[in-house]
Amino acid sequence: MRLLHIDASPRDTRSRSRAVADHFLAALAAMRPALVVEPLKLFGHALPTLADGMVEGRYARIMGGTETPDIAEKWAEVQGHVDHFLSFDAYVISTPMWNFGVPYVLKHYVDVLTHPRITFVNDAQGNVTGLANGRKALVIAASAMDFGGAGDANDALAALDFQLRYLETWLRFIGVDPVETIRVAPTFGAPEAVEAAMAAGGASAERIAARF
Ligand SMILES: Cc1cc2nc3c(=O)[nH]c(=O)nc-3n(C[C@H](O)[C@H](O)[C@H](O)COP(=O)(O)O)c2cc1C
Repeated sequence: MRLLHIDASPRDTRSRSRAVADHFLAALAAMRPALVVEPLKLFGHALPTLADGMVEGRYARIMGGTETPDIAEKWAEVQGHVDHFLSFDAYVISTPMWNFGVPYVLKHYVDVLTHPRITFVNDAQGNVTGLANGRKALVIAASAMDFGGAGDANDALAALDFQLRYLETWLRFIGVDPVETIRVAPTFGAPEAVEAAMAAGGASAERIAARF
């Protein structure tokens, strides 16, 4: 199994999401000696901008055409990122919540990868088929508050989660299945609550590694 670890936290050893990802990867490696893991730290990773006519290439594609020659070089850069992404069998995305959603570097990566006839196809009726099928993923989502929807107060918070639900939706949209998830929360507040969240994240990581 070739696995891409997409890491969207800029924090080094203090990252909560990465700590759970490392726990998962260690458990998985113990079960799969042939596992190959490539880390992709999105902070500091250069990605093409989707400006200067680039996005017109996407509109052209959705209408069944192709991008114009003036953006061919930049579009090839996009294709390079997609080819790299699709060369893996499995993904771990570990990410903090930033302002209810994901850090901009992760949204940028999603936007670079997601194009018609590259990672999905659509028909005139609006039916979508993902082209990243046959691959699986685990999303590890850390947040200061618990958006998990367990209990009255958290049910209201669950509606504000544009992090974990967004990533699950995107992965399924491009055909990735199954998508496993671990919510690491709360990571702020009473030390015992944070410790319990980290312990629960670690236990989930081990459970998921056993069936991944
Ligand atoms: C810019 C920024 C925005 C944040 N926004 C939220 C938020 O909307 N909701 C929340 O619960 N936590 C928020 N947090 C807290 C982080 O999600 C939390 O500390 C998380 O554990 C960080 O994960 P990491 O240690 O892996 O980077 C924010 C943190 C930062 C730095």
